[in-house]
Amino acid sequence: MTSTGLFLTFEGIDGSGKSSQARLLADHLRGMGHDVVLTREPGGSAGAEEIRRLVLEGDPDRWSAETEILLFTAARRDHLERTIEPALAAGKVVICDRFADSTRMYQGLSRGDLRGLVDQLHNLMIGREPDLTLLIDMDPQTGLNRAKGRQGTEERFEDFGLDLQLKMRAGFLALADEFSERFRVIDGNRDMDSVASDVTDIVKQALR
Ligand SMILES: Nc1ncnc2c1ncn2[C@@H]1O[C@H](COP(=O)(O)OP(=O)(O)OP(=O)(O)O)[C@@H](O)[C@H]1O
Ligand SMILES: [Mg+2]
Repeated sequence: MTSTGLFLTFEGIDGSGKSSQARLLADHLRGMGHDVVLTREPGGSAGAEEIRRLVLEGDPDRWSAETEILLFTAARRDHLERTIEPALAAGKVVICDRFADSTRMYQGLSRGDLRGLVDQLHNLMIGREPDLTLLIDMDPQTGLNRAKGRQGTEERFEDFGLDLQLKMRAGFLALADEFSERFRVIDGNRDMDSVASDVTDIVKQALR
């Protein structure tokens, strides 16, 4: 492994299996002897976890679309400074459950066309892309059913329904074309082990 580590992200619509696959991959790589940091967005550092509560809990109209983009970007900046960059500098593998691509999709597309604003802020304040992004592609209705099986307080975005899921799925696939060098699309409409086996094959290649 190089001294600059490897920065991996999981992306995909709600319920596509990102968190499950991120955990399985972390376990697998640790079993191979890699030093792994498993993290998530929004969150992943103390300050960013505080911002997570601000963006995921409460009334759906709590923030304007623009304020929300600022909050996500602030959380990401803290996460990058405190968690991701130090780990990469130490040569670790960083596995992040959602990153800037989720903001490009959800904050960029769900309430008007704000993708340009998301990208401008990203270039100004983040300026870093993952080395490899694993997009778990799947049928939006199945994803919605899976996601609804979970109960919790982080429900600000959870009532947007099938239309949004369809739009996000198409948007993620378009993003995979736009950033084809770092994206790999994985068929998530299969059992967890089959998906995990594709994930580990792709990541092992990247680690070589
Ligand atoms: N391949 C699979 N087959 C069947 N069920 C799955 C599969 N992958 C994940 N699940 C289940 O679906 C639910 C959602 O999975 P998970 O939390 O990993 O998705 P997610 O993409 O992280 O969702 P979210 O975007 O809401 O965080 C969980 O209950 C999980 O156990
Ligand atoms: Mg998840």
